[in-house]
Amino acid sequence: MANLWAGRFERGMDGIVEEFNASIGFDKRMYNCDIDGSIAHVFMLSETGIVTERERDDIVSALEDIRNDIAGGRLALTVKQEDIHMAVEEALIARIGATGKKLHTARSRNDQSQTDVRLFFMRETVLILDALVELQRVILEKADVNIEELLVGFTHMQHAQPVTAGFHLMAYFQMFRRDIERLIDTRRRANQNPLGAGALGGTTFDIDRNRTTELLGFDSPCENAMDAVSDRDYIIEFLSGASISMMHVSRFAEEIVYWNSSEFGFISIDDSFCTGSSMMPQKKNPDIAELLRGKVGRVYGDLITLLTVMKGTPLSFNKDFQEDKEPLFDAIDVWRTSVSILAAMIEKMEYRSDEIQKHLAKGFLCATDMADSLVRQGIPFRDSHWLVGKMVKLCESKSCDMSDLSLEDLISLDPRFESLVLPDLSMMGCVSARKTFGGTAPSEVKRQIEVGRKWLATISEKSNP
Ligand code: ARG
Repeated sequence: MANLWAGRFERGMDGIVEEFNASIGFDKRMYNCDIDGSIAHVFMLSETGIVTERERDDIVSALEDIRNDIAGGRLALTVKQEDIHMAVEEALIARIGATGKKLHTARSRNDQSQTDVRLFFMRETVLILDALVELQRVILEKADVNIEELLVGFTHMQHAQPVTAGFHLMAYFQMFRRDIERLIDTRRRANQNPLGAGALGGTTFDIDRNRTTELLGFDSPCENAMDAVSDRDYIIEFLSGASISMMHVSRFAEEIVYWNSSEFGFISIDDSFCTGSSMMPQKKNPDIAELLRGKVGRVYGDLITLLTVMKGTPLSFNKDFQEDKEPLFDAIDVWRTSVSILAAMIEKMEYRSDEIQKHLAKGFLCATDMADSLVRQGIPFRDSHWLVGKMVKLCESKSCDMSDLSLEDLISLDPRFESLVLPDLSMMGCVSARKTFGGTAPSEVKRQIEVGRKWLATISEKSNP
């Protein structure tokens, strides 16, 4: 069978060209959206008197049969049909003849394919939101249970101040919260209906774009037909949001990898997320965390791909735009799966308090608290910072802790030490003292968790426009 558009052609496509031109290999994934879009279109065509009700019913029932046949693998989808839109239409015509040929009245593949992509986008991204919400639920639970579990806090990868595991987890909660809000915002802008834009300028038929918008569940029809067939902003926005979120996944995954190493030993990853080595029998490798860390590369690539495809393209539709789907589908799959796997991994991750304790003893984590205490006793902060720096240096030369220094040692650093009282520098004391808004004190992290819980409860309503 010749291509549906081949009326003015004398020769068919070369085999290799046919393959190069086709998108069916990847866009067949949208067959449900394509059929839903066509059903809405034909309902509107019958309501506006462009086809009869009888014709509409024949088309709709044949489209439902085609849907079942594709789902059951009974309809061969090949490059001969170029894309899913023509595959469905060809099958329709093969089944009901002349009536089937009326379906494409008042529409173009340009508005049709974008309608499919937007429907697909709305349906798939809600599943990503669900996965992100589940991740947030896991983080909140884990943070709650570990609100007093001490942890080394780092800056520059150097021991900095003691914090808690709950506090550290809630830092990620904030990142994923912003990711969720970005995705909700992108979905709000994307939820518009291109159907009825035609090839680029609208149509001469008196169609009702609000009706298809309502039937397909979009918020409104795209305002300008030329923009409707040319716009891929919403996909680029999505890919930017996906890239940022995958960067967050990657950062968490990296912490899991090094915390799980024998050098740190802060956590143990559940066996079900590790693999062994083919040669070294003792190995338990954090492959899944490493893969999460690495997958972000693909999503950055997807973003750069589409930005580059769209750059400099003139209005309106260009075949370049067919290249929008593979990066979108790839990012949808990678983001959703990565988020779900990260959630499951965090849920089963165990903190190893005994190992963490050994690390807390190193690196003078409470030096800031010592300096703060001297300030409270009347020493200006810059002086106290200097003095504590000297104490640290002395401790290093004597291989001891600050609390091990004798009064003579201290007086040798500064005579004012004679009248100063050294504070209690227990790790939990230092952590609990940081109860300023946003701080690591358990009482403050409890507040952060409560705010987080309330916010999460509002999300499921917003995520379903
Ligand atoms: N398969 C195409 C796509 O993915 C459909 C649009 C083709 N339109 C055209 N005029 N060639 O965008």
